[in-house]
Amino acid sequence: MLAGNPRIFLMADPVTILVFDSGLGGLTVFREIAAVRPGARTVYLADDERFPYGDIAEADLIARVLEVIGRAIKRHHPDLVVIACNTASTLALRELRATFTVPFVGTVPAVKPACAQSKSGRVSVLGTRATVTREYTRALIREFANGCEVDLVGAARLATFAEAQFNGAPASDAEIAAEIAPCFVDRDGRRTDTIVLACTHYPLLLDRFRALAAWPVNWIDPAPAIARRVAELLPVPASPDALPAPQFVLTSGRQPSGTLMAALRGFGFVAATENA
Ligand code: DGL
Repeated sequence: MLAGNPRIFLMADPVTILVFDSGLGGLTVFREIAAVRPGARTVYLADDERFPYGDIAEADLIARVLEVIGRAIKRHHPDLVVIACNTASTLALRELRATFTVPFVGTVPAVKPACAQSKSGRVSVLGTRATVTREYTRALIREFANGCEVDLVGAARLATFAEAQFNGAPASDAEIAAEIAPCFVDRDGRRTDTIVLACTHYPLLLDRFRALAAWPVNWIDPAPAIARRVAELLPVPASPDALPAPQFVLTSGRQPSGTLMAALRGFGFVAATENA
């Protein structure tokens, strides 16, 4: 049974989870969900046609997310939808819940755990420029800062760098270092010790962030917490034996390049499905 949407699952019925992002970043959430719910049927949907979401005006983005998710619900009949995108969740989650009856799990900046863990009392939130300016994010800080100073850092190009790296064309160290540098603040006797990865693309670059960091910090990736929430909402033990392979779908209908497909195999995908 799902919270807020009572229905009965038979043990033989595998549930379907739709994981959605503007691009490949949501794969960092998808892999955690696949680990906690190996018995679920999964569909990963990337809106590559409109990537990056960080550059889209708010009204257009709400309309786009409602349209793409509406189409995907009709086609894939998910029991749960995970919006694995901070830029979309911080803006459109309320409209999605008001429009569709299927339950949604969103991805929003992990301000609460970051501020609870920080010892220095200075935390940075690294997200798209859209996410860090959203009222949703500011409200999280008002509610959960827990006495910490929180520095908001909007990155213009990191999501694109993450996609490029996944496609075999990594950005240079200097380009990545310039994007993360403003996260490292040493002011008023407090030095940043915790950085929230507030865009699901960024964990794809985490090794590079660690190597280029001005000093060691704790990086907070919300994906494991999102997967735990999914497991709470779908407590159905199903046999993975007869499951189809996870589906990977691009809204453009394009087929992934050979390089991308090779990377996707690491996440359990065997081929891309043509229609969103
Ligand atoms: N992965 C997305 C997020 O979590 C956004 C990247 C983009 O499309 O700009 O915010």
